[in-house]
Amino acid sequence: EKGTYPHFMLKEIDEQPFVMRRIIKEYQDENNELKLDGDIRAAMQACDRVYIIACGTSYHAGLVGKHFIEKIANIPVEVHVASEFSYNMPLLSEKPLFVFISQSGETADSRSVLVRIKEKGYPALTITNVPGSTLSREANYTLNLYAGPEIAVASTKAYTAQIAVLAILAVDSARAKGLSLDFDPMQELAIAANAMEILTDQKDTIEELAKNYLATTRNAFFIGRSSDYYVCLEGSLKLKEISYIQAEGFAGGELKHGTIALIEEGTPVIALATQEEVNYAIRSNVQEVVSRGANAMVVSMRGLEQDDDAFVLPHVHELLTPLASVVPLQLLAYYAALHRDCDVDKPRNLAKSVTVE
Ligand code: M6R
Repeated sequence: EKGTYPHFMLKEIDEQPFVMRRIIKEYQDENNELKLDGDIRAAMQACDRVYIIACGTSYHAGLVGKHFIEKIANIPVEVHVASEFSYNMPLLSEKPLFVFISQSGETADSRSVLVRIKEKGYPALTITNVPGSTLSREANYTLNLYAGPEIAVASTKAYTAQIAVLAILAVDSARAKGLSLDFDPMQELAIAANAMEILTDQKDTIEELAKNYLATTRNAFFIGRSSDYYVCLEGSLKLKEISYIQAEGFAGGELKHGTIALIEEGTPVIALATQEEVNYAIRSNVQEVVSRGANAMVVSMRGLEQDDDAFVLPHVHELLTPLASVVPLQLLAYYAALHRDCDVDKPRNLAKSVTVE
């Protein structure tokens, strides 16, 4: 039920800090040790490559997951859009492990890949919000998202839950391999949950930004580098699916290879700047678009902020920044859609669960 909320989407955005805390609780034992099914740990140890298969927002979470599994656990990962993988299967490694990410667990494109790889005898893990779902039943292993029912067509809390569970999977695999970590993952997730709560309390500021930047525009661009780029893909999908603004997310370095031709006076460009390593580079991309007339909105992170930034996120661990940076982008999409009189929870032409290929 929506309760006092005007839309499920807003309620689900607000639930994100609580979902984070539930995940922390569910994936810890009584001694506060990380708790994961031993069979899943063994499957991660036995594989020589992880193939993440997903669609839409879950695919975007998979990209962040690749970052975690490669950086934290040192296991190579490929991320594939399910509908492409089915018809254009890449050459596989000797011992692949397939990881299906699906909020609903019913997405036909993903299931079609699962059926094919099962025929070949490859192991599969499903990360889903619905434990009894088709993808969960048909895979060898399941990890639950504990996000609670997600009703709005635009996925929000499932995305952040997927990222948190992928981080836990990566950390568990690293520990099983004897790799040492220089941070406490559960503590960092708790810090991210607090940051999300601070962000969901800043709705008025983000509503104002949505009015200033997105009220009448026909198009919008999101730029970022490294993991910020992955969040840009998600931010642009959110915006296009509920506000019908033509939005594109791309890597900052790609601007000069084509998209900069589209920048004109007043074009909104939302830039994420949460990564120290690429801060200088993304700032110069912002300069490039501003000098061509763009209306740039920089979303940065405490410690990396500059005077003209439109919005500064509370500081979170550099690997977990997507958990924080996506929240203002979700809210931007929400308010842009609201002010354009769009049906926020049920956008045109879309279904919550896509059960046809
Ligand atoms: O249930 P799934 O996670 O498998 O769904 C995948 C996509 O259909 C879904 O994420 C879709 O892109 C959302 N409407 C995005 O907000």
